Amino acid sequence: MTTTDTYTGGDVRLTGISKSYGSFTAVQPLDLTVPQGSFFALLGASGCGKTTTLRMIAGLEDPTTGTVHLGDRDVTDLPPYKRPVNTVFQSYALFPHLDIFENIAFGLRRRGLKSVKKQVGEMLELVQLGDKARHRPHQLSGGQQQRVAVARALINHPQVLLLDEPLGALDLKLRRQMQLELKRIQTEVGITFVHVTHDQEEAMTMADTVAVMNGGRVEQLGAPAELYEHPRTTFVANFLGTSNLIPAEVAGTGSEVVVTAGGGKLRLPGERCPAGARPGGRLLVGIRPEKITLSHADDAGAVPDGRNRITGRITDSSFIGVSTQYTVDGPAGTGLQVYEQNIERDPRLVPGAEVVLHWNPAHTFGLDADQDIAAGTEQETAAGAGSGAGPGAATGPGRNTAGPGQDIAGAERAEDSP
Ligand SMILES: Nc1ncnc2c1ncn2[C@@H]1O[C@H](COP(=O)(O)OP(=O)(O)O)[C@@H](O)[C@H]1O
Ligand SMILES: [Mg+2]
Repeated sequence: MTTTDTYTGGDVRLTGISKSYGSFTAVQPLDLTVPQGSFFALLGASGCGKTTTLRMIAGLEDPTTGTVHLGDRDVTDLPPYKRPVNTVFQSYALFPHLDIFENIAFGLRRRGLKSVKKQVGEMLELVQLGDKARHRPHQLSGGQQQRVAVARALINHPQVLLLDEPLGALDLKLRRQMQLELKRIQTEVGITFVHVTHDQEEAMTMADTVAVMNGGRVEQLGAPAELYEHPRTTFVANFLGTSNLIPAEVAGTGSEVVVTAGGGKLRLPGERCPAGARPGGRLLVGIRPEKITLSHADDAGAVPDGRNRITGRITDSSFIGVSTQYTVDGPAGTGLQVYEQNIERDPRLVPGAEVVLHWNPAHTFGLDADQDIAAGTEQETAAGAGSGAGPGAATGPGRNTAGPGQDIAGAERAEDSP
């Protein structure tokens, strides 16, 4: 295609990119490489700088510092329409008076192409809307309309497709379907997708690589399982799923680190601890709720040797079908979360019961104790968005969902380039 022909393809590379509005820095200097052909997610709470980062890639926002490369090409000074990039927004803003076929054909028609049938047909196939070609947008479901928006962008053969909370307007079930659908489309076309979302499950479902953003910085970047199993900050540990973080004191270091917490000893692999861990120092010991087994205190003797164990009392339990979620208070911590799969439920495990929480020491991770232990928990996220990012943190529909003008500009971008 005309656009891609002029580019060699390649990674999206951000170097020292930042954005300030007056004295407020929305995006801290950031280095980021998005490998070509990958599905990359920028994940973080509202106001953390995701949209701003995306808009700098698209050229809709001038960076305060830094450069944007697409492949070997520095596009920092190129206007949006000269970048081989298209954007799909939450408000898909289809043309209501055009049918689906013409909505998708729009970019090609603007470029003056006469025979669009083959390409539009392929796009309709790709998004599985072949039978809807002559429908108007209002006759389609939200999910179908979003697929049209994706097809309308992809027909321009962008080198990179940017998606800003594209599924935000859909209800939960549709969103789950569309996540798999978008993933399939990305795999099929092999174009680099940069996807912005505040939904950690969405990011983990779709992306090969997730960059977790917090307060204008990337806290950690990696494959979903890597981030989940090896969080390096309290924010990532709490924001991605749930973590139990237990304040502890280091008793011994080495290939295995031993700590004391709540009067007992816990062990964890040395390589899962921050480098600075020293005897006498403090550490936050982390364990995911699903890694813990809950035994009634009467059965404490049956817990195998070599497992980490702490005691407590159940304060709350909720049955949620596949699992039961328990809250436990004990000397090591309060509000500890335990998820037990519902295979054989022990009827004694009810609020008030004395229990032993035990788990494989290998599943334990250690975090620097100088961090805010509550960073990234829901309450903290809401408060953090307000305090960290100022009153403007609520991005509001005007910023997050581009109006029709902007979306159309996105569709036009590619065909306007030389
Ligand atoms: N034009 C602007 N002027 C001032 N502040 C802005 C502007 N655009 C964004 N911001 C602020 O920058 C921060 C990051 O915004 P944004 O990138 O939209 O966050 P996200 O997409 O992660 O929710 C927010 O605090 C927001 O209020
Ligand atoms: Mg946003």
